[in-house]
This record gives sequence, C-alpha cells and structure tokens, in this order.
Amino acid sequence: MSGGRPAATGGSGLILAVETSCDETAVALVERGRQIRASVVASQVALHAATGGIVPELAAREHLRWIVPAFEQVRADAGDAWARIEAVAVTEGPGLAGSLLVGINFAKALACVRGWPIVPVNHLEGHIYAAWLLDPGEPERPPPPFPLVALVVSGGHTMLVAMRGHLDERLLGQTVDDAAGEAFDKVGRLLGLPYPGGPAVMHAAADARRRDRVFPRAWMGESLDFSFSGLKTAARREIERLAGSDGALPPAEVAELAFAFQASVVDVLAVKTLRAAEETGARAIVLGGGVAANAPLRERMARGAERLGLPLIVPRPGLCTDNAAMIGAAGWYRYAAGARAGLDLDARPSLRLGAPR
Ligand code: KG4
Ligand code: ZN
Repeated sequence: MSGGRPAATGGSGLILAVETSCDETAVALVERGRQIRASVVASQVALHAATGGIVPELAAREHLRWIVPAFEQVRADAGDAWARIEAVAVTEGPGLAGSLLVGINFAKALACVRGWPIVPVNHLEGHIYAAWLLDPGEPERPPPPFPLVALVVSGGHTMLVAMRGHLDERLLGQTVDDAAGEAFDKVGRLLGLPYPGGPAVMHAAADARRRDRVFPRAWMGESLDFSFSGLKTAARREIERLAGSDGALPPAEVAELAFAFQASVVDVLAVKTLRAAEETGARAIVLGGGVAANAPLRERMARGAERLGLPLIVPRPGLCTDNAAMIGAAGWYRYAAGARAGLDLDARPSLRLGAPR
C-alpha cells in the first residue's frame, strides 16, 4: 500500500506486539496504531553493562527468560481488551538473529493457540511509527502529516527517510560507517563511562564548563549520508593525548570531551535533517530511535523545525528507545494493508527500510 488511509478492518483494531530484536524484551497492546493499552519493556542494560556491550547469545537467553513474564504482565494490564485482539505483530528484523527468533517463535506459538494472524514488522519502520503513539490518558492529537521526513538514529542505524504516505518510505541518506548510537557507545567506553554510552555521554556533557573544544563534522558534501568514524577517531586521539599515564582522565576533561563529541553529532544530524525536510517539501519532521532520546538533539531540532515552521514530532524518551508499542503501531498499518506471515516466518537480521535514492 502506498499513501492514504489504511483499509478499515472493521474489528477492534487491537494488535498485540512483540519486540526482541536487540537487548530489550518488549510486549505491548496497541489500538488502531495509536493508543497504547499496555506496554512492558524488560531491559537487559544491567546485564550488558557488566560486559561493556551486548553479547548476542546472552541477549537471546535473556529474551527467553523475560518474554513470558512480559507477556503475562501485558495480559494482566489489558483487562477486557484481551479478548478482542485481532493479530500479533512481531519484529522480523533487522537485529540479532538469535534475539529476533525468540520473539518470532513466541508470536508463532500465540498464532497457533489463539488463531491470530502474524504481522511481520520492520524494526526501523517501528521507530518511525512511535511518533503516532498516544500514552494511556494522553489527549488525542492529530497524527503526523505527510509528506514527512524521519530521522532514525539508533545503536545500529542512522538514516533519513522520506514518507509520502503510510508505509511508503524512501531512503534519503544513511551512515556509511558507524551508527550515531554506536559512536556514542564507543566514545562513552573510551571516556570510561558506563554502558550504554549514549545517556552516559549526555549526562557527562551537561557538566562541561569549557565548551570551546571543536571536534570535526563530516558533512559529506551535498549528500544526506552520514559518517561518524572520523569523529570517533578524533575523539580517541584527544582522549589518549589527555589521559594520564594510568589512562585515566580527570572528570572535568571527561565532561568537556563528551560535550564536544555530542555537539558534533547533534550538529550534523540536525543540519542534514532540516535540509532534507526543506528539499523534500516535508510538512513535518519525525525523530525516532534511541539517540532521539538525546536532550540536546531534541532541543536543537525543536529550534530548527520552528524556524522552518514545521511541527517536530519526537516520542517521549521511553518510546524512542526499543519498545513493542512502536511495533504495534507500525503493525496496525501493515495489518490493515494486508501484510501476513506464515508459520515459516524467519528472522531477517539485515532487513532494510526504503529503497535507496
Ligand atoms: O533504538 P535503540 O534503543 O536500540 C537499537 O535499535 O539500536 O537505540 C540504542 C542506542 C544506543 O546506542 C544508546 O547509547 C543510544 O541509543 N541512546 C542515546 C541516548 N539514549 C539512548 N544516545 C544519546 N543520548 C541519549 N540520551
Ligand atoms: Zn531500535
């Protein structure tokens, strides 16, 4: 389906959603792609903090451990709505194969027992559709208007996408090396900050006194592509230069370096997203993915969008990072467009979004 409204299903519009692509075990119940009826996210952050990053096999085993409790909690929170669920939406990719398979097999089991159709969902499309979600009790607001430009910035992806209508994504640009979140995580580790680096760098940067250090920005000419590996290398060199013989940095230096690094990432993300919105005649800008939880990025984008006279739609931080409600939102539009998977559904670790320009 491209553009326009999704076909009405005539049913309750209740979609149960399952997300296990990376390190959050998440289950949610979402009505008509917008209203969150229940949402549970079991985070593995504490486990992966111990190893300084995600160990895929451990992540898959943790999903196995948490998927049933998360599901039971959503069932308890759902109340009467439980009996009216129409379909189960599940992330098919991209992500870690072993992690994806836990969610996929769980969705298959539900499909067998309850007879629900399975709706396969692209995790990246889910990050965009988080902008449609309404929390319980949140006042109704209009859905994002088309055409729009979406910046998806997560641990694995950094991409600019144009949407002319529902499920109609066109890739405008993407990272040629590291994802923005990956760069945050790596620089956070070099600075001796805890995992995940994104929030840790953001909090450290807030304490920076000197704010005049400038790290490079990769503008990549006229292109809407991104590159963060040069910035990462520049940050590493500076960290090594300033570190004492024991490799440790004084806290003031950590804050200043975190600030300079974050400023460079935010600058490039904001300038390119605003340019993409202008070039494509967008009527709104959407941010999604874990890095969209970054406060300076949100503030900078809000100012830029206001200058262009465009609404900026950024989900609250808990809906920017991985969750199942966003899969329930995208899943509803996919479901209404007729997307169905059989019991042979397999994980698609390298699934992409939108055809390249
Ligand atoms: O979307 P997400 O939860 O998982 C993936 O699909 O990758 O994104 C996780 C990424 C991590 O790299 C994390 O460090 C980053 O999002 N992140 C942030 C912030 N919160 C999470 N980066 C910068 N500032 C934040 N506040
Ligand atoms: Zn994600």
